[in-house]
Amino acid sequence: MIFKKRKEVNGSERPGLVVVNKPSSVISEQFRTIRTNIQFSMIDEAIRTMVVTSAGPGAGKSTVAANLASTFASEDKRVLLVDADLRKPTVHKTFKVRNSDGLTLLLTDKQAHVEDVVYRTHTEGLYILTSGAIPPNPAELLSSKRMEELKREMLDYFDMIIFDTPPVLAVTDAQVLASKTDGVLIVIPKGQASKEEMHKAKDLLDKVKANILGAVLNRVEKSDDNYYYYYGDK
Ligand SMILES: Nc1ncnc2c1ncn2[C@@H]1O[C@H](COP(=O)(O)OP(=O)(O)OP(=O)(O)O)[C@@H](O)[C@H]1O
Ligand SMILES: [Mg+2]
Repeated sequence: MIFKKRKEVNGSERPGLVVVNKPSSVISEQFRTIRTNIQFSMIDEAIRTMVVTSAGPGAGKSTVAANLASTFASEDKRVLLVDADLRKPTVHKTFKVRNSDGLTLLLTDKQAHVEDVVYRTHTEGLYILTSGAIPPNPAELLSSKRMEELKREMLDYFDMIIFDTPPVLAVTDAQVLASKTDGVLIVIPKGQASKEEMHKAKDLLDKVKANILGAVLNRVEKSDDNYYYYYGDK
């Protein structure tokens, strides 16, 4: 069995990982609903690679990506959460691991292999790939042929790959990855994102023919019935 003897998450994960820390909470239930909605949107074609992004910064992309990856992972489903935010990576912080090697090593060193840098987490079926060293040219690396090869290699090991990315309006990285993956989930921070920004982000994703699966409304007040809402467009 791969990854068993390799890198393993040692400490406990950060509190932001609600679905792991509080599996029976309302939020965890909502992530299960989002999972179900995504599964429903992939009846004809299984979605195995997915980008989580947003229009602007601080929307909750990394939080949603990590919780969703945990929700999809199970005994018989292997999920890899990839930190493809090569500008402001956080996956290593969420899972409290070293970020010396990661995606950028795989992208720049052909001798490096997926099984050498992927961490196995405490959650059954959940694996993580941290960003690695921050490169000067993230968009270039993410659009490289090597990235394509790497994605295929990852799909040999994992049933699903979830990419955490930078905001769409800031840099082209998410657009680049969206064009290479089966679907995109947009995180919208309630009351913080303007309609205009959302339209701009959607236009940019449409331009690369991204398959927008839907949007998750984040930062919904506790007084509301739900903390997270999912809007599918399928
Ligand atoms: N629903 C929520 N309720 C409370 N805090 C949240 C919620 N979602 C995210 N946060 C917090 O807001 C901060 C930003 O969230 P996160 O890092 O997930 O956003 P991001 O979109 O990935 O940001 P960036 O654009 O910098 O990558 C974090 O400290 C996170 O813990
Ligand atoms: Mg982030």
